[in-house]
Amino acid sequence: MFEYAMEFDDLVKEFKKRVVIHDKAILLIYLADHVYALDDKCGHMGASLVKGTVKDHTVECKSHHAVYQVEDGKVLEKAHVGFVKMPTKSLDTYETEIKDQKIYVKV
Ligand code: FES
Repeated sequence: MFEYAMEFDDLVKEFKKRVVIHDKAILLIYLADHVYALDDKCGHMGASLVKGTVKDHTVECKSHHAVYQVEDGKVLEKAHVGFVKMPTKSLDTYETEIKDQKIYVKV
């Protein structure tokens, strides 16, 4: 079921935003004319990704540098400290829909 997340214009201005829907933290990213929705909980130790770096359709966690594909939440680089890599799970992603300038997420 699609649930209201936020105003589309606000996401365009802010580019990425954390929203909470039914107690689930979701990271919205506006990229290449599309709104992507992923778990805002890193697959390593659960840090929020909202302060992470978005680059070339990826988002990097600030904590231990895990890198995820924005489109499907797949892990591209595991969390690491120096050369030591740590287990990192992929992120769930969610369908989005824009209606009347409002963003809805299927949760
Ligand atoms: S919590 Fe995100 S990489 Fe460790």
